[in-house]
Amino acid sequence: MKVLVTRKIPEKGLKLLQEKYTVEINPHDRSMTREEIMEAVKDKDALLTMLSDPITSDVIAAAPNLKVITNYAVGYNNIDVKAASGRGIMVCNTPGVLTEATADLAWALLMAVSRRIVESDKYVREDKFVGWAPMLHLGGDFYGQTLGIIGMGRIGTSVARRGALGFKMKVLYTANSPKTDAEKEFGAKKVSLEELLKESDYVSINCPLTPDTRYMIGPKELRMMKPTAYLINTARGPVVQESALVDALKKRVIAGAGLDVFEDEPALAPGLAELDNAVVTAHIGSATTRTRDRMSEMNAEDIISALEGRRPVNLVNPEVVR
Ligand code: GLV
Ligand code: GLV
Repeated sequence: MKVLVTRKIPEKGLKLLQEKYTVEINPHDRSMTREEIMEAVKDKDALLTMLSDPITSDVIAAAPNLKVITNYAVGYNNIDVKAASGRGIMVCNTPGVLTEATADLAWALLMAVSRRIVESDKYVREDKFVGWAPMLHLGGDFYGQTLGIIGMGRIGTSVARRGALGFKMKVLYTANSPKTDAEKEFGAKKVSLEELLKESDYVSINCPLTPDTRYMIGPKELRMMKPTAYLINTARGPVVQESALVDALKKRVIAGAGLDVFEDEPALAPGLAELDNAVVTAHIGSATTRTRDRMSEMNAEDIISALEGRRPVNLVNPEVVR
């Protein structure tokens, strides 16, 4: 059987696949184009994709032998799952393993923007630091403040737990259903989006990108936030209307933002790169050595299960297996 891997991933997973199948790996240190994927997938039984590969219905249609797609990510908004299900193709992702790494990154951004780490680092390197000063680089507090989590899934809960247990924060959250475990463990409280935005000192976005969450945070929502509040996004860029966020940061409608994802990735909205009150990283939520190794194994193990007639562990469209 034949497998296409659209970008070189850690050896651990590749080895598992290479022991069993003919594996074609993108030879370039860049994403494959849509045309390259469509050409390469023609004779493949399995496809291992990146979150940056749009796996649309025509890509799926170009692969008559395809049985399984595994996405090297927890989010799978890049895949037309409906089109895959229509053909009986299994779709898998990598939940769980990247939860703590991504929650850590949300916190790294939160602390960096609130305590002005990047701005202060730059100031020191530029030789502007001439001695301690009482008003230099004053930032926000997080100890004892209110943390609002939009999307209290695995990652949202882990971000919240760090705040509640480590920094004695009050936790508010939105979710489709109440999270009684988090309510019991650290007193998290389910509220409306409006209440969350109005009451929180930090708002962390941890929901998937779906038609319902696209542009969930626009100009109106940003104006509901406190002028001293910070927005952190480690989920998907299009949950936030980025031009509205740039405007809000410029006008100090909110205090700052920490962003690992962007609306039109890898491009930034005009003006964002010039703002001192934004900290930006290169979609590195799951980017730890151990996490990425494990993600490669999970994708490989699920491909092997699917091709050997077993149910993959991380199947997102269970309707395809009877
Ligand atoms: C990263 O953004 C992921 O979805 O795993
Ligand atoms: C992702 O894995 C989430 O549930 O937050």
